Amino acid sequence: MSHKHLSSAETVKLFQQYVVPNYGRYPVSLVRGEGAYVWDTEGNRYLDLFCGWGCNLLGHCPPEVVEAVREQLGLLIHVPNTWHTELQGLWAKALSERSFGGQAFFCNSGAEANEAAIKLARLHGAPRRRYKIVTFEGGFHGRTLATTTATAQPKYHEDLGPLMAGFAYAPFGDLDAATRLIDDETAALMIEPIQGEGGIRLPPEGFLAALRELADRHELLLIFDEVQTGCGRTGDWFAYQRFDVVPDVMTLSKALCGGLVGGAMLTSAETAKSLRPGMHACTFGGNPIAARASLAFIEAVERDNLLENARRLGEVFRSRFEQLRGECDLVRDVRVRGAMVGLELSIEGAETVRSCLERKLLVNCTQRTVIRLLPPINLSEEQAHEGCDIIAEVLKTQADNSAGGEG
Ligand SMILES: Cc1ncc(COP(=O)(O)O)c(C=O)c1O
Repeated sequence: MSHKHLSSAETVKLFQQYVVPNYGRYPVSLVRGEGAYVWDTEGNRYLDLFCGWGCNLLGHCPPEVVEAVREQLGLLIHVPNTWHTELQGLWAKALSERSFGGQAFFCNSGAEANEAAIKLARLHGAPRRRYKIVTFEGGFHGRTLATTTATAQPKYHEDLGPLMAGFAYAPFGDLDAATRLIDDETAALMIEPIQGEGGIRLPPEGFLAALRELADRHELLLIFDEVQTGCGRTGDWFAYQRFDVVPDVMTLSKALCGGLVGGAMLTSAETAKSLRPGMHACTFGGNPIAARASLAFIEAVERDNLLENARRLGEVFRSRFEQLRGECDLVRDVRVRGAMVGLELSIEGAETVRSCLERKLLVNCTQRTVIRLLPPINLSEEQAHEGCDIIAEVLKTQADNSAGGEG
């Protein structure tokens, strides 16, 4: 049944010769996953608290999703969007009923969902010659040229030549700055309700509500990029629900299909009319496999009360890391919303991530100093503690070493 795997060293060699080296990768080849654990080819088991870069919200290979997809593979894999499929219809209904009652356009990734939102904003604004979009510093919206431009982080713009016209950037949380950037050509405001790649940064109290008012006053579309925060990650189906601020457009991907590929843009039926036939498309968007996976994912989250579990896990991580902050000088700040956890360090985090890896724990570092955890929401409290124990041990050792170094 299972074939003999290559060693990690052999796989690394293949990559060196044949794979474009645009990612920094650890020299470990992963071959199997189950729940919160993943195994490398040498048989080592890792606790994965950065599960699939936030995509595997039910852990690796959730049985409900695997089973649904297996069955669907034998029925219908792909048909073009010139046909109706009941699965795409049911998928759109499920998302609509759990959000703000709109309609869905389906695609394959976060960047594609945001591209759709950007094109929608421009088409919606076209009758009044509006095309500009205000986004926020430290945000992250994807890697296509338009979404890279929307991403207000200079390091991602380097050497790309002229970027797309029509984007302006305000500091995250600065309402006056956002207001000043609006002119007669502005079509939309676009923001992550909680910045993910930007370091798990929560907006100041009232900021999203103020953006809603600003958008209403100037008749702009308010676009929430919930690619990372959406689909249960924060302990609600969508992060905007806890802030009680409803966007005009919302983009989803990552966890949407329980670890499979998929993306979506949601908007009201009225606004959706601007994306008139022929103006946008995605060949694989809304395919039966993605739809079945997502429906199985949604059912499992609700059956097992996993939104509640995400909130409970958030409290476990918060209390463990607040305690650690009191014990270890290296921890500057702790930011948590459900299963979205950021630990701001006073040092660069790369070494912390490497030391965790040596202890068979997978975490991420973003913005150089923030240890980011995006664990599955069906993680047990014991597993959460197991991860926290390792992080605490690693950081305390680092603190001891740096104190020793200075002495
Ligand atoms: C908030 C947000 N938007 C968009 C993206 C881009 O998604 P993708 O890599 O699927 O294109 C990401 C990816 O990390 C993200 O976190």
